[in-house]
Amino acid sequence: MKQLFPILSLFLILYLSVSGQRVVQAKASPQQRPTKLFVFGDSYADTGNIQRAFSNSWKDPYGATFPGKPAGRFSDGRVLTDYIAKYLKVKSPIPYRLRKVMPKQVKYGMNFAFGGTGVFNTLAPLPNMTTQIDFLQHLIQHKVYTALDLTNSVALVSVAGNDYVRFMQTNASQGLASFVATVINQTRTNLIRIKGLGVKKIVVGALQPLGCLPQMTAPTSFQRCNDTTNAMVLLHNALLNQAVTRLNQQTKDRSSFLILNLFDSFMSVFNHPSTHNIRSKFTPCCVGVSSNYSCGSVDMNNVKKYRVCDDPKSAFFWDLVHPTQAGWHAVYNKLRTMNALQHILY
Ligand SMILES: *[C@@H]1O[C@H](CO)[C@@H](O)[C@H](O)[C@H]1NC(C)=O
Ligand SMILES: *[C@@H]1O[C@H](CO)[C@@H](O)[C@H](O)[C@H]1NC(C)=O
Ligand SMILES: *[C@@H]1O[C@H](CO)[C@@H](O)[C@H](O)[C@H]1NC(C)=O
Ligand SMILES: *[C@@H]1O[C@H](CO)[C@@H](O)[C@H](O)[C@H]1NC(C)=O
Ligand SMILES: *[C@@H]1O[C@H](CO)[C@@H](O)[C@H](O)[C@H]1NC(C)=O
Repeated sequence: MKQLFPILSLFLILYLSVSGQRVVQAKASPQQRPTKLFVFGDSYADTGNIQRAFSNSWKDPYGATFPGKPAGRFSDGRVLTDYIAKYLKVKSPIPYRLRKVMPKQVKYGMNFAFGGTGVFNTLAPLPNMTTQIDFLQHLIQHKVYTALDLTNSVALVSVAGNDYVRFMQTNASQGLASFVATVINQTRTNLIRIKGLGVKKIVVGALQPLGCLPQMTAPTSFQRCNDTTNAMVLLHNALLNQAVTRLNQQTKDRSSFLILNLFDSFMSVFNHPSTHNIRSKFTPCCVGVSSNYSCGSVDMNNVKKYRVCDDPKSAFFWDLVHPTQAGWHAVYNKLRTMNALQHILY
């Protein structure tokens, strides 16, 4: 399996300042909405942190549906971050990279996610999740965000599988099951750190069915998911559930951490695609004309070396690893009908 993004064309107390009235309001209305979203992770959450030169996400036809031109999202349009922001009724937070260019947008939170990264270093020379959390810590030290800001915030943490891509690409002496435990241990460390910075709610994505990504279903002409890969995903998700359950037992309010079940929601869309007006569930919308090319590739003469489907709105997958906006929208709707999102509010 290739990198989760085609690099180089190959491929988230101090109530002192709060009046007593506000605290009473908070109790009377448990559905108080957070005002900021902080985002950590990879291409499933990145909204433009990678610099233009280094990623297909800045090339046509990425961003064609939204915002209408390439803007660094790994899709034809909106991604998971945008839908979580929509649910919270906050603006999708600006990429960390743009914090100085768009200082007024800083109040909605910030997106520290970089496509291609994992909890550990991957082949992409970009900030791993530890470094992404360091970025928020520095902003807090420089008083860009106050303790109250953090108390009114939610973190979205995406761990979509780049650590496993890296694992498969290198000669691991470690067994896969043991590596899964290491990834969950590091994810747990990261979640504890984000909570320690003062973020109220931390939402972490379960691993989506990697075995159903076009990259993995290509050998069967996009017909069948790879069950071996999905079994590994289920192990990851079981260990994540265990870790998050224990973390909640150890925290005062017992509900600081929440898992976003991307496995069940993706699977549900695959099992009932027409419910979501999806006609192509596994066949990606945008692919390279041959194995040497990928979505967004051009040759030396700037001639397109990719094909785009007629109707991105009816395809679940955009490229070999990333959902379309329609795909993310279907997953978002499924998460809402599963009542999986209401617990983000507090
Ligand atoms: C994250 O990246 C930094 C800088 O490359 C590195 O020193 C650190 O060990 C990495 N953290 C993890 C958990 O891999
Ligand atoms: C992978 O294993 C082969 C054979 O054991 C070895 O020659 C090679 O150096 C290893 N590569 C890495 C990156 O560890
Ligand atoms: C779990 O994570 C902690 C903190 O990063 C680290 O010190 C410890 O070695 C890890 N344990 C395993 C089994 O990976
Ligand atoms: C499924 O994926 C594994 C690697 O995760 C691979 O070794 C295996 O060949 C794949 N199976 C099929 C049927 O493609
Ligand atoms: C891919 O590129 C290699 C090296 O440039 C070339 O030899 C090969 O024919 C190309 N394959 C296809 C299917 O275009």
